[in-house]
Amino acid sequence: MANGFPLENCRAVITGASSGLGAEFARQLAPQAEALVLVARRVEALAEVKKGLEGQKATILCCVADLATDEGRAALVTFLAAEGFEPNLLVNNAGMGDYGSFLSSSPDKTRSQIELNITALTMLTHALLPRLGKQGGILNVSSLASTLPMPDLAVYAASKAYVTSFSEALAIELSPRGITVTCVCPGPTPTNFGKNAKRPDGTDTNRDGQGLLRIPPAQVVREALQALQTGRPCVFPGLGVSIAGRLFRHMPRMLMRAVLRRRQRGD
Ligand SMILES: NC(=O)c1ccc[n+]([C@@H]2O[C@H](COP(=O)([O-])OP(=O)(O)OC[C@H]3O[C@@H](n4cnc5c(N)ncnc54)[C@H](OP(=O)(O)O)[C@@H]3O)[C@@H](O)[C@H]2O)c1
Repeated sequence: MANGFPLENCRAVITGASSGLGAEFARQLAPQAEALVLVARRVEALAEVKKGLEGQKATILCCVADLATDEGRAALVTFLAAEGFEPNLLVNNAGMGDYGSFLSSSPDKTRSQIELNITALTMLTHALLPRLGKQGGILNVSSLASTLPMPDLAVYAASKAYVTSFSEALAIELSPRGITVTCVCPGPTPTNFGKNAKRPDGTDTNRDGQGLLRIPPAQVVREALQALQTGRPCVFPGLGVSIAGRLFRHMPRMLMRAVLRRRQRGD
C-alpha cells in the first residue's frame, strides 16, 4: 500500500517548470532531490530556473518540449531514455487556461488546452508509470476550478474536473503497487497563468471575491508536497481555498446554477 512518497533523494520530472508553480516545485525539491528534469517550451526561461538552482543538492537537466503535441511528449520520453534518467516522481504541472466565451474561442487554443491539460497529463503518466519503481509518486496539478462548471472558462474547468477525477481513481488503483498519487487544487495564484489565459482582444476573468482565496505559489507547492509525502489523495491549499472547495463540492446543483447565472449577469 502507498503510505506517502518520500521526497529525500527523489528523481523527479516536472512539467511546466519554466515559470509559476512548476518553477517553485523545482525550487522546493532541489535541496532534497537527487535529480530533476525540468520540462517546458521556452529554453531561456528553463535555463534561468536552472541557474537559480545552482549549488543545490539536485542535478538539474532541462528538456525543451511542447507537451501539447504527440511529438513533444515523445521527445520527453526519448530524452529521459537517452539520459538514462529513471524517475520515481512525476509532477504533471504544465497547464493553460483561456478566458472568454466558448463561442468566441479559437479552436487552436481550445485544442492545445485539451492536449496539454488532459492528454499530456494522461499519456505521460501512462508512459512513465512502469518506470516509477516500487515506491513512486505522481503529483497532478488540478485546480479549485475542477469543483464547479465555470462559464467563460468552461473548457479549462472541465479539463481540471478530469484531472481531479483521474487522479482520485489512480490513487486507489495504484496504492497496492506502492505508488502515491496526489492531486493539488490551487485557487487563484499569482503566476503567468492569467496573462497567458487572457485573449489578445479579450477581457480578464471576473476576479470578484478572489482576494480571500489568493495565496503565494510557495504555499501552494509546500502544501502539495506535504500532501504527497503523507499520502493524501487530494489537497486544496490555503484556508480560503479549502473552505471554498468543500462548499462547491457539496452545494446543491440548483443553487450552484443560480449563483453562476447571477455572476455571469454581473448582478
Ligand atoms: N495560477 C493559478 O491561478 C492556478 C490556479 C489553479 C491551477 N493552476 C494550474 O497550475 C499549473 C501551473 O500553472 P501556473 O499557474 O504556474 O502558470 P504559468 O506561470 O503560466 O506556468 C505554466 C507552465 O506550463 C508550461 N507550458 C505551457 N504550455 C506548455 C506546452 N505546450 N508544453 C510544455 N509546457 C508548457 C509553461 O512553460 P512554457 O511557456 O515555457 O512552455 C510554464 O512553465 C497549471 O496546470 C494551471 O492550470 C494555476
